[in-house]
Amino acid sequence: MIKVKKRKFLLLPGDGVGPEVVGEVKKIIEWFNSNKSLDFEIEEGLAGGASYDKYGTPITDEVFYKALESEAVILGAVGGPKWDNLEFSKKPERALLKLRKELKLFANLRPAICFKQLVDASTLKPEIVSGLDIMIVRELTGGIYFGEPRGIEPIDNGERKGINTHTYTSSEIIRVARVAFDLAKKRLNKVTSCEKSNVMEAGQLWKEEVQSLHEKEYKDVELNHMLADNCAMQLLRNPKQFDVIVTDNLFGDILSDQASMLTGSLGLLPSASLGAKNKDGKMRAMYEPIHGSAPDIAGKGIANPIATILSFAMALRFSLNLDKEADVLEKAVQEVLNDGLRTKDIASKGSKEVSTTQMGDAIISKLK
Ligand code: IPM
Ligand code: MG
Repeated sequence: MIKVKKRKFLLLPGDGVGPEVVGEVKKIIEWFNSNKSLDFEIEEGLAGGASYDKYGTPITDEVFYKALESEAVILGAVGGPKWDNLEFSKKPERALLKLRKELKLFANLRPAICFKQLVDASTLKPEIVSGLDIMIVRELTGGIYFGEPRGIEPIDNGERKGINTHTYTSSEIIRVARVAFDLAKKRLNKVTSCEKSNVMEAGQLWKEEVQSLHEKEYKDVELNHMLADNCAMQLLRNPKQFDVIVTDNLFGDILSDQASMLTGSLGLLPSASLGAKNKDGKMRAMYEPIHGSAPDIAGKGIANPIATILSFAMALRFSLNLDKEADVLEKAVQEVLNDGLRTKDIASKGSKEVSTTQMGDAIISKLK
């Protein structure tokens, strides 16, 4: 008898609202199992502050190995003021950074989509953001986040020096640029590459490598180079000029926060962090909402689970090639928004305010 290998998801709810929003994804996975015979296996583990509180480390080896063995990791959020004063290596965020680095998840896809039902939630004028659909591809395992040397050291006259190093190699740049070009081909066929080539050598290399990859393999895709500060400005001035933006780890961190806020609905935006494909076309991956752990509203049952649910839809699409199921799930979210259901973060006059679990249930009812 052929033994079918079960597809294992590792759920890492993390801190703050993480457990609440991941709880809704768990319900959805269970729904797919019983109604679509998809046979997903779920494992759970602690990460971030929750892991530190129990084990004294933001992620245990055991959980890390589970992540290595799973088809995809679904992460809620990590961090909170409770752990702010821990030394660097113990901070909740280290769990995230370790997973990114050691699973080699170099391409972070962060869509900024303005849902038509929520155009008014943006702080920008409706005509600037309506129909907005940008994909930011952020390099995730290099640059100043991981460069050596780093540290804080004493120097003369009682002063101290903080050091971080920004480095990129050609191959690190090329592999993430390739992801951006391939994505653009399925979208509006346009890539904007952002760096600071006017002041940084690593930025100059970034620009040169992206340009030469373009000439060699992606001539059919429109490519523009833009300085990162100009990109920040253009995102506010005319965000719809962008299709895919590719940039380094630090600029990507900042520009993706900025872009997500154009949509006015942080609680709706998913993200995917992807590694390289092996010869069977499989890759390691982690999916998480863009929003953080929101400790101020944790435990109140009011967090918006949609970003995490849409992250799971990305997992279906990118890790399992289940495009049809991803479509069904994304459509269910749209329908619930059309019905006027809103969690507190996106509530407006005339909408029906619902709790985290009510939102999850409403989405499931649309799957049926
Ligand atoms: C993000 C976050 C993380 C980052 C933090 C939590 C380490 O801001 O995913 O954008 O800086 O990458
Ligand atoms: Mg960030």
